[in-house]
Amino acid sequence: MIALGADHGGFELKEAIKKHLEDRGIGYIDCGTYSPESVDYAPIAKATCDRVVSGECEKAILCCGTGIGISIAANKVKGIRAACCSDYFSAKYTRLHNDANALCMGGRVVGTGLAIELVDVFLDTEFEGGRHQRRVDQITAIENSK
Ligand code: RB5
Repeated sequence: MIALGADHGGFELKEAIKKHLEDRGIGYIDCGTYSPESVDYAPIAKATCDRVVSGECEKAILCCGTGIGISIAANKVKGIRAACCSDYFSAKYTRLHNDANALCMGGRVVGTGLAIELVDVFLDTEFEGGRHQRRVDQITAIENSK
């Protein structure tokens, strides 16, 4: 199960991603926004990431205009490792090396075709573990030291 969230800047892209997930037979929970009306991205990032932290969803996909604001907000949620990606290599390696559990994209940055490629590689790539687990653990230690 995938948690989806977007503000108005990412709304159209989220809708396209929903269709793609349906085509692939992947379940999702749409955490909003549900229209192109202007809306703040931070509460949507929180509501979407909470589905991951609770274990209800494996990963989150978040969209705003740039992908940046919603990724900054997502990374404030304990347990979330969100990566803002607009290229294939980063979307792949943030899974391999960072065990990222949230993919963020900008609806005003990436086209739908590229975004779908990023979604697929993000969802289909497993964390490599090994030395990267130690590094992820160090990130978690920073989070837990707050
Ligand atoms: C909304 O206009 C825009 O600021 C937002 O979608 C995002 O790009 C923020 O980082």
